[in-house]
This record gives sequence, C-alpha cells and structure tokens, in this order.
Amino acid sequence: CNVKAVIPAAGHGSRMQSNIPKQFLTVGGKTLLQYSIEAVCADSRVTEVIVAVSAPDSNDLPDVSELAVSQTVTYVRGGETRAESVCKGVEYALVQGATHALVHDAARPCLPKEALARVIDSGVASQHGAILAIPVRDSLKRAMSLNNNAAHIEESVEREHLWQAQTPQVFHARTLLNGIHHMGAHNPQLTDEASAMQWLGYQPILVEGAFKNLKVTHPEDFECVANWLLAPVT
Ligand code: C5P
Repeated sequence: CNVKAVIPAAGHGSRMQSNIPKQFLTVGGKTLLQYSIEAVCADSRVTEVIVAVSAPDSNDLPDVSELAVSQTVTYVRGGETRAESVCKGVEYALVQGATHALVHDAARPCLPKEALARVIDSGVASQHGAILAIPVRDSLKRAMSLNNNAAHIEESVEREHLWQAQTPQVFHARTLLNGIHHMGAHNPQLTDEASAMQWLGYQPILVEGAFKNLKVTHPEDFECVANWLLAPVT
C-alpha cells in the first residue's frame, strides 16, 4: 500500500482570537503546521505529505527545504470547508498513486509517533479504516436552552462508550473521496473523515490516541501545546 498524508490547513481559525490562523502560530521559531508535517513524517510508511492551504504560492508557508523530513511535501489549494480542503488533498494524493489517505489536522502538532504507527497499522489492515480517539473522561451534560444567560442541565449523558475523535484518520483514499462526495463537503454533519465513511456504511475502528494530541482551538490550548513542544526531550 501507499499511504499519503493530507493536512487541511486552509482554515482561518476565527475561534483563536488571533489575526494569524492557528496553524501559522509559531513556537520556538516553527509554525504549528511545520510541527504537524514533521509529526506525520515520523512513520516511514507515509510516502508524501500534501498540505491544503488557502494560498499555495504564499511566502508565509514553511519552506519545504527547511523541513526535517525525507518525504516530499506539496502544497495544494484548499476549499471553503475543511471537507473540501481534504477532497482537494485526497484527489492530488490519488493522482500521485496513493492507496490510502492519512488525514491529520494542521493544528495537532504533538502527535506521538507510537499513536501514528497504531492508526496506520489498523487503517491499512481494514477496509473500514481507523481513527485515533480517546475515551471521554469528564461527566457529560446536555443543556439545550439558555435561560438568563445560564445553561441549565437537561440531562446527564452516559459517558461509557463515548470517545473523542482525533486525527490522524486513515482510510482507503478512493472510498474516502466517495464518502465525502456522497455526504456533501458542505454538510455540517461532516466534521471528520470517519463521518463520511459511516455515511457509506463503514464502521471505522477506534485506535487509542493520546491526550497530548490536542487540537489547538482556543488560546489556552495553544499554551499547553507550546509547553509540550518546548519541553526538553527526555
Ligand atoms: O476549525 P477546525 O479546527 O475544525 O479546523 C480543522 C482543520 O481544518 C484546520 O487545520 C483548518 O486549517 C482546516 N480547514 C481547511 N479548510 C477550511 C477550513 C478548515 O483546511 N476551509
């Protein structure tokens, strides 16, 4: 098989209250995107990295010759939604001979290489594909209505059997593209690639992820990730 990584990085990151999209925030002189590219290259089964960005010819992109990776890194133009950006990347991966696509968020720079290896093992071995996920730790509450600016608990939700989905998510590339096309790249239910596979009737496998594999969404996530990235390797 031939696994190519697709990194959607064409978002604007409006939830970060920053002028710079979160994937271009820097820690120790490197962007989160650069760390994420290097993280997916830690497994030699990944043969190429395709990064979907809003402006592939921009000077602000990490210079591929400066990346500490042996794989080819290619920039393609992304789309209006995350799913559209993933489609553009997977289409390019197929042209380059990919059998499997490994999709990883640009804003998850602390992916441990053992978790990467686990999800590739499972994703290529099964037609259902595989995703990293962690079991939900906190108690869960559903609150539908906002009364006097306070959300009141309507019910507690059983947390057993609930998992938080992470990336990478690894699937047969052509099947994934089919799933996204069928479900529609603008469908609000399409929040990750596993949803598109489920739409086709597949049941992707959950593979144990890592708490450290956090996605930077809010400013406090960035603080955590920056500390981990700068911590001396032990
Ligand atoms: O906003 P969210 O955290 O869900 O975005 C996940 C990833 O999808 C980010 O890396 C973001 O850059 C990417 N994205 C994209 N194209 C878009 C919107 C988001 O590649 N149009």
